[in-house]
Amino acid sequence: MPQDGSAQPYFFTSTEITGREDWLRLHLNENPYGPPPGTVEDVCAEASDHLNRYPDSECAAVRERLAEHFRVAPEMIALGNGTDELVLLASLTFLRGTDGFVATTSTTFPGYVTSAAAVGARTHTVPLTGAAIPVAGLTATMRQGAALAFVCNPLNPTGALLDRDEVLELIDTAESTGTVLVFDEAYIDFAGPAHEFALEAVREGRRVLVTRTFSKAWGLASVRVGFAVGPPDLIRQLNTTATALPFNVNRQAQRAVRRALEVPEYLDRVRADNARVRELLCKTLDSLGLDHFPSAANFVMVQVPGKGAEPGDSARFAARLADEHHVLVRDLTALGLPGRLRISVGTEAEVERLATALTQLLGRP
Ligand SMILES: Cc1ncc(COP(=O)(O)O)c(C=O)c1O
Repeated sequence: MPQDGSAQPYFFTSTEITGREDWLRLHLNENPYGPPPGTVEDVCAEASDHLNRYPDSECAAVRERLAEHFRVAPEMIALGNGTDELVLLASLTFLRGTDGFVATTSTTFPGYVTSAAAVGARTHTVPLTGAAIPVAGLTATMRQGAALAFVCNPLNPTGALLDRDEVLELIDTAESTGTVLVFDEAYIDFAGPAHEFALEAVREGRRVLVTRTFSKAWGLASVRVGFAVGPPDLIRQLNTTATALPFNVNRQAQRAVRRALEVPEYLDRVRADNARVRELLCKTLDSLGLDHFPSAANFVMVQVPGKGAEPGDSARFAARLADEHHVLVRDLTALGLPGRLRISVGTEAEVERLATALTQLLGRP
């Protein structure tokens, strides 16, 4: 239980775990390896030299570096205070003042629905196809007149990944319906460059937005930087909304991102380590008899055992993991997948600690 003994949901509104430093954080899909080399020093130096100065509202240097890194023009990039802000900015830009609705999947990152609600727009959600992204349902919903569509790829929380044909089918449909299609690729760095079909399409001049983040594989969740890549006209509209309030990405964040991009091999290391530990996690789950789903990301969706083939009570299971073992995982009941948990991959040592907790919990119903 939380320290004051009150019953709190395990999706802490506050992610702070002050006084709980020994708790294992496998609920937010953070990078457990620490930030890229040199970024901490640069953040400290920037704060030391310029904490009294506003940041560059245009993020010009970062934009240039990102453009170079992703082989697009600087005017094809918009920066945000995490992908979170870009999702809200996209909703403000492409939904406000229209009677258009948002299309997304029934089970996914909640920010798409909450942002649409914040601008007074309706949301049409499409049920998953098993654990997969429902491409046919999404194209049908775009044809019904969606103004904006968010497709999370790889999909949080199942880890499913789209192939090239599926990405292109979604883009073809969006172009024909006029829907602004956003691929949220917060976790694509774990899948690797061979899966960057949406970004390739942007480079070829297709009308689609791709959002990425420095919070996950890049290990910089605290500084809050996300970016969108897309055609200059859509990016201009996003930036116009963003600059209603000009300083959304702070100095330390801009400096950290510039430094991170100087060490691209860091990302390759994280991807390889994550893949190795994800395999270990899956083997551990197998050995405990826990069903799980193939994932291209840094989390795995796991079914809590119940009676027969029915999944068990995932809310209770997650609560017991937290209360009895100080291990935080995400119960997916609120995301429409009762009986399932989303567990971040973590390090080898963290998988070991999780395995001990799961073994004890499964042995004591
Ligand atoms: C699919 C997805 N998109 C966006 C975000 C937000 O990322 P950021 O830290 O860049 O705001 C998350 C965070 O967990 C996420 O899972």
